[in-house]
Amino acid sequence: MAMDFLELSESRYSVRGYQSRLVSDELLNKVLEATRLAPSAVNKQPWKFVVVRSEEAKSRLRNCYDREWFATAPSYIVVCGDHASSWKRPADGKDHCDIDVAIATEHITLAAASLGLGTCWVCNFDVPSCKALLGLPEQWEPCVIVPIGYPATADVPSKNRKDLSEIVSYI
Ligand SMILES: Cc1cc2nc3c(=O)[nH]c(=O)nc-3n(C[C@H](O)[C@H](O)[C@H](O)COP(=O)(O)O)c2cc1C
Repeated sequence: MAMDFLELSESRYSVRGYQSRLVSDELLNKVLEATRLAPSAVNKQPWKFVVVRSEEAKSRLRNCYDREWFATAPSYIVVCGDHASSWKRPADGKDHCDIDVAIATEHITLAAASLGLGTCWVCNFDVPSCKALLGLPEQWEPCVIVPIGYPATADVPSKNRKDLSEIVSYI
């Protein structure tokens, strides 16, 4: 049965421990297709998605974020943003690259959750090392690393969020 969006939002959480079981190309392609459809400012699509799944690339990527749990993931998607082609708002020059990349990344995590896969946003990594690993040109930034795989445990942590009354106002 298809999950409704509220259920899906509840089911996605940061998975910090994975089974060694590989993600099939079929599932990975579904996640990537959902990501391709993400919106972006002026439809610039200033992004590339690098799937890291060879043993050599995985071991180099793991050096960019040296955590035991991170190394358990069987694959990763590095979401990269292109600051050269992203939309800059004429009024103030604001670069919308990060916003676009964030939307695409959340498509990855939600699409994965809908398929029973776990993910975690990771931004606290060594950016220069990751950029060198991917061979990215100057204007490109590796923005987020998303480990993707089957969660090691079935325990879903409870959500710790501000109450709606704290974050919503009506005028
Ligand atoms: C922009 C961003 C960066 C994040 N970076 C990291 C990170 O480097 N390492 C990590 O373990 N979790 C990271 N997270 C995960 C957050 O800690 C997590 O989403 C938050 O605590 C809420 O928990 P939940 O995802 O389980 O609902 C990041 C999340 C976001 C949105």
